Amino acid sequence: MNIIEEVILKKSTSKKPIWLMRQAGRYLPEFREIRKLNPDFINLCLNEKLVPIITLQPLKRFEFDAAIIFSDILMLPYGLGQNVKFKKDFGPILGDLDEKKIDGINLNDFSNNLKPVYNSMKNIALELKDKEKSLIGFVGAPWTLLVYMINKQSPKKSLIHGLIDYQKNKELLKTVIKFLKIHIKSQIDNGANIIQIFDSWAGLADNNLIGKFIYDPTAELVDFIKSQKVPVICFPKDIKDYHEYIQEVMPSVISIDYNIDIKNFSQKVKIPVQGNLNPNVLLSDEKNLKDETLKILDTFKDHPHIFNLGHGVLPQTNPNMVEYLVKLVKNY
Ligand code: CP3
Repeated sequence: MNIIEEVILKKSTSKKPIWLMRQAGRYLPEFREIRKLNPDFINLCLNEKLVPIITLQPLKRFEFDAAIIFSDILMLPYGLGQNVKFKKDFGPILGDLDEKKIDGINLNDFSNNLKPVYNSMKNIALELKDKEKSLIGFVGAPWTLLVYMINKQSPKKSLIHGLIDYQKNKELLKTVIKFLKIHIKSQIDNGANIIQIFDSWAGLADNNLIGKFIYDPTAELVDFIKSQKVPVICFPKDIKDYHEYIQEVMPSVISIDYNIDIKNFSQKVKIPVQGNLNPNVLLSDEKNLKDETLKILDTFKDHPHIFNLGHGVLPQTNPNMVEYLVKLVKNY
């Protein structure tokens, strides 16, 4: 059992595992070099030679306890036949949503479209064997995927009122859940030993949408993942009520964003926690990084805790600061 599993399954508090959301890619010069030569991001995610290399790059540099496969939550709409492109300095741009076409996709087409992801997963798992490192597979939560699929680009701080509606979108929601289960199962079958569900836009769901779009569908996925005997980490970024979320969704681990008051939170939460250093702190100086890191470590001293950020590593992060952070956590 590696140390992340000890924290999740045995509720150990004596070890402090660490990995960072979006640790693969973005801020590492060795990634940027590969990225420059591979202008099509989706193709890069489907490159069986390069995905294992990129996934393992951060583990070569830092003492992380987990690898997360280099892929994207938008590989799901891609697998369903929706066009997905990434534009520099803008983000994802999705094609028109053709629900008839998506309805016509069968399991084989979908799995074939994403086969390279699973082949990469298998090879990464082989490399990590005997190394006591977890391999994290991931998906976007149904809500966040619907936001991208319907809005066709990253939303701003709010959603157009009525853009997503249960009566209008319940069939699409069902389809997304069905294929998410296949995507999750294929990652597990090829060596993922933890699954993280990213609900990056959970904060945009109004109270009248939360039950049908966030709690119910995510709880269904959590049950499914637990039935595969694999732990599941949920990250409902900026959700209005984390405690209600935990009660309704019952993840193995709750990953919290950096806006949470952790003193208050740590006293109420019963399940293992992941998080929640503000990624901006990695852009400041070592003294500030040390203060903020120790605050989190002290708060969760007696609670099962996986050290992580409260959102992904920022592209402008200096890798030396990441190195310093890992040392702080490991020497705590
Ligand atoms: O740890 C890792 O880096 C693993 C790989 C990973 C990527 N995306 C690679 C990526 C993971 C775990 C994701 C998840 C993801 N993708 C999320 C959830 C986490 C979050 O940040 O909220 C979301 C919302 C997406 C959708 C997405 N993909 C956006 C909005 C963008 C553009 C902005 C950005 O983050 O760079 C992407 C592109 C993307 N995904 C890149 C990488 C390395 C950058 C692509 C590039 O080099 O142009």
